[in-house]
Amino acid sequence: MKAYRAALLRFDDQHAPVYEADGLLVVGPDAQGRQVVRAAGDHAALIGNFEGVAVEDLRGKLIAPGFIDMHVHYPQTDVIGAPADGLLPWLENYTFPHESRFHEPAHAREVAHFFFDELTRNGVTTALTFATSHPASADAAFEVAQARGLRFITGKVLQDRHSPDGVRDQTEQSLIDTEALIQRWHGVDRLGYAITPRFAPTSTPEQLRGAGALAAKYPEVWIQSHVAENLDEVRWAAELFPQSRSYLGVYEDFGLLRERAVYAHCIHLDRTDRERMAATGTTAAVSPTSNQFLGSGFFDFGAADAAGMAYGLASDVGGGTSFSPFRTMLAAYVVGREGQTKTGQSLSPGRLWWLHTAGAARALGLEGVVGNLQPGHEADFVVLDPQATPLLARKTQQANNLDELLFALIVLGDDRLIERTVIAQG
Ligand code: GUN
Ligand code: ZN
Repeated sequence: MKAYRAALLRFDDQHAPVYEADGLLVVGPDAQGRQVVRAAGDHAALIGNFEGVAVEDLRGKLIAPGFIDMHVHYPQTDVIGAPADGLLPWLENYTFPHESRFHEPAHAREVAHFFFDELTRNGVTTALTFATSHPASADAAFEVAQARGLRFITGKVLQDRHSPDGVRDQTEQSLIDTEALIQRWHGVDRLGYAITPRFAPTSTPEQLRGAGALAAKYPEVWIQSHVAENLDEVRWAAELFPQSRSYLGVYEDFGLLRERAVYAHCIHLDRTDRERMAATGTTAAVSPTSNQFLGSGFFDFGAADAAGMAYGLASDVGGGTSFSPFRTMLAAYVVGREGQTKTGQSLSPGRLWWLHTAGAARALGLEGVVGNLQPGHEADFVVLDPQATPLLARKTQQANNLDELLFALIVLGDDRLIERTVIAQG
């Protein structure tokens, strides 16, 4: 066992932030040998129970759960900041040419290493990640994540039409490859597989049907895709699938709405769509820096809450502009202000933070596993330095309450705030 003395942030059952100014986090192996949180709380109250346990003194720092990125494309690490007139030209002119290189395992591995270095530098300890259509791209990401001991989910992209040579796959082979990857990786160490149709316009009905069949055969496996991001995309999906009730309805018609199904964006949905997501346990990966960068629109937090659908935050790099959860939380706050005229409320700092940690875990079906620092959770955490910059030091010192402290970190924070990222090593 090992213990850390620092300020401590975690979340209670009501999703509210719990803060100890002088906290203690004790980590150690559970009965299965997983490195988990054994105790968390006030230092003075707990320390007597852990005599003989080495305590690292991190007073002045803040320990918080590792962040969870619900939607990111590791092969788009080099696509960040590519200028384009919206989603479809961006895909055609930048993203597909970049992704076509990932049939080379050496290239995929090199980018995967850089990507995971970047996640770690930014305090992200779990991600649901797109690979490319090449099975080698998924293998590379899994291998690197496994070597680093990460809880990590990815999948080979399915895209058998309306895609250029070099990224387009073949219907039957794509499904064979997907099942082989599920069997090779899902449930190995802390890894999980996600069946990954890129989005409805780039899959034939046959490919979506096959994806739905695999989703039914492997209920523990994740599903990830994009939906209702951009108005041109929504129109295109309607032309291609005129029989479906809506764009989201296409996925429902092929058996792709269920628990552990995560759809990025979910901007241009209607009320029935949101209710279908809630009823099926399907969740949204809200990607505000991407939506601002590509001019896609604004996620409607109020409508999502009214329908009872679950969601969490995501970077969507390379459509997104930053790996930093602080940049994403700030963008989500701004987007929430956009909808404030309807709800009359802003997203609170505690809620923004929850949506990128315990709330994201919940939306991934990993509640109780990661995203929080209550006993039994896998011990992935970050050590933040509130003095990381002169302005952060000045502003956090003036915080009168937890909301003000968290909001100062959200608004002013970036990778400099992350002093250390600790991964649970069993
Ligand atoms: N829709 C289909 N593919 C993509 C992608 O790579 N990024 C984003 N943001 N939207 C998509
Ligand atoms: Zn995406």
